[in-house]
Amino acid sequence: MVLLNDGHALPQLGFGVWQIDNARAPEVIATAMNAGYRLIDTAANYGNEASVGVALRRMNLPRSQLYVTTKLRNEDQGYDRTMRAFDASAARLQLDVIDLYLIHWPCPQRAAYVETWRALIELQKQGRVRSIGVSNFTADHLERIIHETGVTPAVNQIELHPAFQQQMLRNIHERYGIVTQAWSPLGQGRALDDPRIRAIAERSSRTVAQVILRWHLETGSIAIPKSANAARMAENIDLFGFGLTSNDHAVIAGLDRPDGRIGPDPAAYGQMRILRRLTRRFLTT
Ligand code: A2P
Repeated sequence: MVLLNDGHALPQLGFGVWQIDNARAPEVIATAMNAGYRLIDTAANYGNEASVGVALRRMNLPRSQLYVTTKLRNEDQGYDRTMRAFDASAARLQLDVIDLYLIHWPCPQRAAYVETWRALIELQKQGRVRSIGVSNFTADHLERIIHETGVTPAVNQIELHPAFQQQMLRNIHERYGIVTQAWSPLGQGRALDDPRIRAIAERSSRTVAQVILRWHLETGSIAIPKSANAARMAENIDLFGFGLTSNDHAVIAGLDRPDGRIGPDPAAYGQMRILRRLTRRFLTT
């Protein structure tokens, strides 16, 4: 478990359901929960909240043993829209209280993330969300919401894997007491081919995925790997009984690359469609 700056705690390993479609979600989530995962990470934008809700209900676990994250869609930013979108997400998930609610992307072109953050603060005050945080925020976005509202996010969920380590942003998280959550912790599978990590894995009699996930845990991040395969789900949560040496950490630190990003750049992502069309027209005329 990792303690957050609001006094709540989250499991350090979660299960991500991005790109797991509705039809398969209940079965995949049941398999993940049977493997031991207790933190389930979804988003309104993944389109599978309702299936996650069905799966969680079927598992019938005590609520205190279950941690559910969901995220606000970019199109729902703004104070009132956020309040309504939250209700819709909670209803789809069949939950009264969400453990962690995140602003999915800052979308700076919408100029709405500060008022959106105020809505999350209100939802937390009302007891509808235990912890509130953000995703894909850069240092500038973080500092703006902290300075304008006085409330520091509990987590920032960012793209983070050996080829894209975001050390500067993680230093800022540390300064503010923000927990880093890593999305695509295995680099969407690309990090698994690295011969230097394979050498560490062979020496530790572990798999490459286990070494990378253990690296995330030892660097203090919450990792939310995704797998639709039962054996790999079990492999990805079996991270105990071994550790990395300081030399292993130095080797992995050396794998960071300036062009290592796989996903979109948060400074540009999530522009309104109309703005995108206008920009395109402007650029082509
Ligand atoms: P699969 O679903 O077939 O297991 P990330 O979490 O970084 O986005 O990476 C997810 C990708 O990595 C998926 O394609 C997933 O495929 C694959 N993956 C997840 N865990 C493992 C593992 N232990 N070994 C090999 N591939 C894995």
